This record gives sequence, structure tokens and C-alpha cells, in this order.
Amino acid sequence: MRFLLALALAVPGAPGGGDPYFPDQGNGGYDAGHYDLVLDYNPSSNALTGALTLTARSTQDLSAFDLDLVDTLAVRSVTVDGAAAAFSQKGQELVVTPAAALANGQDFTVAVRYDGKPTHVLDPDGSRDGWIRTSDGVFNANEPQGAMTWYPGNHHMTDKATYRFTVTVPDDRVAVANGDLTSKRSGGGRTTFVWDAREPMASYLTTVSIGKFQLTDAKIGNYRTIVAVDPKLAGKATAFAQRHAPILDYFSSLFGPYPFSSTGGIVDHEPNVGYALETQTRPIYPSVPGEGTLSHELAHQWFGDSVTPTRWKDIWLNEGFATYAEWLWLDRTGAKPLQTSFDTAYAQPADFWEMPPGDPGSGAAIFDDPVYDRGAMTLHVLRRTVGDAAFFTILRTWTSEHRYGNADTQAFVALSQRIAGRDLSALFTTWLYKPGKPAL
Ligand code: TRP
Ligand code: ZN
Repeated sequence: MRFLLALALAVPGAPGGGDPYFPDQGNGGYDAGHYDLVLDYNPSSNALTGALTLTARSTQDLSAFDLDLVDTLAVRSVTVDGAAAAFSQKGQELVVTPAAALANGQDFTVAVRYDGKPTHVLDPDGSRDGWIRTSDGVFNANEPQGAMTWYPGNHHMTDKATYRFTVTVPDDRVAVANGDLTSKRSGGGRTTFVWDAREPMASYLTTVSIGKFQLTDAKIGNYRTIVAVDPKLAGKATAFAQRHAPILDYFSSLFGPYPFSSTGGIVDHEPNVGYALETQTRPIYPSVPGEGTLSHELAHQWFGDSVTPTRWKDIWLNEGFATYAEWLWLDRTGAKPLQTSFDTAYAQPADFWEMPPGDPGSGAAIFDDPVYDRGAMTLHVLRRTVGDAAFFTILRTWTSEHRYGNADTQAFVALSQRIAGRDLSALFTTWLYKPGKPAL
């Protein structure tokens, strides 16, 4: 009787995850556990057919809940625990009403069948994100909003989950995703690739990229290194796979063990995309990366991918850290002394100093230069203040305490103070939150 009464009071989950910069992103009322995503794609017509089976757990008595999916893709059917569920689509919200309400704490499975011709979204800063078509397939990068352009999910950075991607493409194409390639089979002119991403992942770090790639899979040093290279760039990318292990070894010595079961990258040829992205285990590049970009995206595997911010405002925890790691690698190889990187950044003109990196202000500014360069300078000043030993203990404790999780700037400040054994609030306030150029 009590049970029935409680369910009679079940209410719909929130349609958004509450991030002030992207309020509709994510949904309330449940936690995603595992995405089993089966895709069939035809690159010449851009026709995508998808079947998602998501296992999740409710976090309230739930009469209905949302998944994020753009309504240009048509949902054909939804089931919850095998029973047909009612659904509707509006904007980026797919609203699912199960035949019976779900009790708080209940494990459930939602299965969605959908199809259509996906397209990217335009971010507030004007860049493209999501399903970006290329001459031979798809450049698929999803930070901050793109995941909803190709599969339904709880697309909020705090709801990490494991994934399996089963992707079928014509025989002359390769589908490359996150994690480990666990099977590849061909028949009837089409090839199916299965990728297992067994460590928790935020959905903005997923990728299923498609092209006429040359795919290699080899143990190089300590790392299973899976690399996909656009044949147009093969001549320039002969060393690409080999370049990962030395960088990962160096970063492991500074930041703690590499967090994932494999590494590698996707080198696409897409001159119209102006950025690379740290897609988990396997960053995606629009051209062959230089040492700066390669080390930056690999550093993100610790800072951003394994340890992810709780909200977009804290994006300097990704970009400032990856930029500082890039400076460290360029110093290590002799390409550029660390102090030169700092001095060059510090010499930027007055308008650079207007935006404090800890508070970009809106989703349009999350990838602005101060988030990267002033974020990295903040870490350098912290290091100079607390000393090398405390500084690298802070970084290693950060990656171990929050491995596969989320954390915010406040947690980083608290950790720094705990390890340094002193108050650092003035340093962080000046460097992260106050407009204007800090004195040295
Ligand atoms: N996170 C990427 C990196 O620095 C950058 C990035 C993602 C980006 N999306 C963007 C930069 C859009 C500019 C515009 O590795
Ligand atoms: Zn970055």
C-alpha cells in the first residue's frame, strides 16, 4: 500500500541538468550506467539508423524522464524494461513516459530506435560541434553540445557511463570510437566495428568517427595504441602512433598512472574544423597535430577525461591544466623553455586580462584564450608558491582522488591548501576570479 501511494506521487524528471551555461543539457531523475549503441551509417546519403539500449537507475519516483536528442532525428519506438513506452520529441528533449512509474532506486533499461540525417549544432561561440560530415564520412567531436546530434542520452558532464559502440559502415570505410576495438566483421559489402569503452566517460568525450581511415592497432611501449589516419595525410603521419608512448610515460611520471586501457588518435582531414578534441582514449584531430596539440590532448586524458569538471564554468580545470602540461612537454623536449611559455603568455595585451578564467561568464566564452593561458599561468604561479614537491603531489592527488569522477574549482583550491598546508585563497582569487593583470 505504501509502495503504491509513493508511486502515485511519482513526478517527471527535470528536463535539464541545471548547468547555468547549458541549462537544457542533461536530465533529472536518473543516473546512466551503460550505453549500448548500435549504429548503421551510409556516408553518401548521411542516413543514420540507431538503436540505443541504456541501463540506468532512477534517483526519484519517476513518472516520466527525458533523454537529450535533437528532434531532427525521428524516434520510432521506445521501451522501458521491454514494455512499450509513450514518447514525444520537442527541441532537444525526448520525453519518455513508461507504462508504469519507476520507483526511486530502481534499475531499468530504456531502448530507443531512431533514424534520420544527423547534422552538427552551432555553438554559442560560432564553432561546429557534433556530427560534422567530411568528404568521406564524419568528424565527430561533441564538446560541449554535440552528443545530442547523434544519440539519445543524459548529456550532462556529471553523468558518466560505460559504452559499447557497434557501428556498421560500407566496406571501404572505417568506424573508430573510444576504448578498445573488440571485434570487426564483414558481410554483404558492409563492415561492423565494435568498440568497448569500459572506463566511465562523459558523453561530450564520446566519438564515432567515420572515414577511409588507415587503422592500426599495436602495443607501443606500455600502451595499446589504436590509430586511424586519413589516407590523404598518411605521408605526414608515419610517426603518429609512435609519438604517444613517450608523452604518456612523461605525463604518468608527473600526474599518476595513465587512466585508460588504450590510447591513440584519429587524424582526419577536415580543414574547416578549427579545433582538436580530447575524445576519451582517442583524441580527434582535423589534421596531423604538432607536439603542442598532441601533448595537450593527451594531457586531457588525466585533466578533463578522467577528472571532469562538474559544470562548464570550471572549464579551466581542463584547458588550463592541459595547456600547462603542453608547456611542460615542450620544455622537456627542448622545444621551448617553460619560463618562455609563461613569459609569452604573461606579455599578452590588456584586453586578454579582462576575462578571469575561473568565470568565463557564458557558454560563448568557455574556449577563450584566458581559460587556456591564464589558467596555465595560475598553475605555474601555484607551483612557484608551494614548491615543486607540493605542486606535483597536488596534481597526483587530484587525479587519484577524483579518478573517473567530477570535481570543481573549490575542490582544487581546498586540495591545494591541504597539501601545501597554507591559505592560498588570495592567489586563486587574483588569478582565477579578478579581472585585470595580476602582479608577479
Ligand atoms: N577542448 C578542445 C581542446 O582544447 C577545444 C575545443 C572544443 C574548442 N570545442 C571547441 C575550441 C570549440 C574552440 C571551439 O582540446
Ligand atoms: Zn584543451
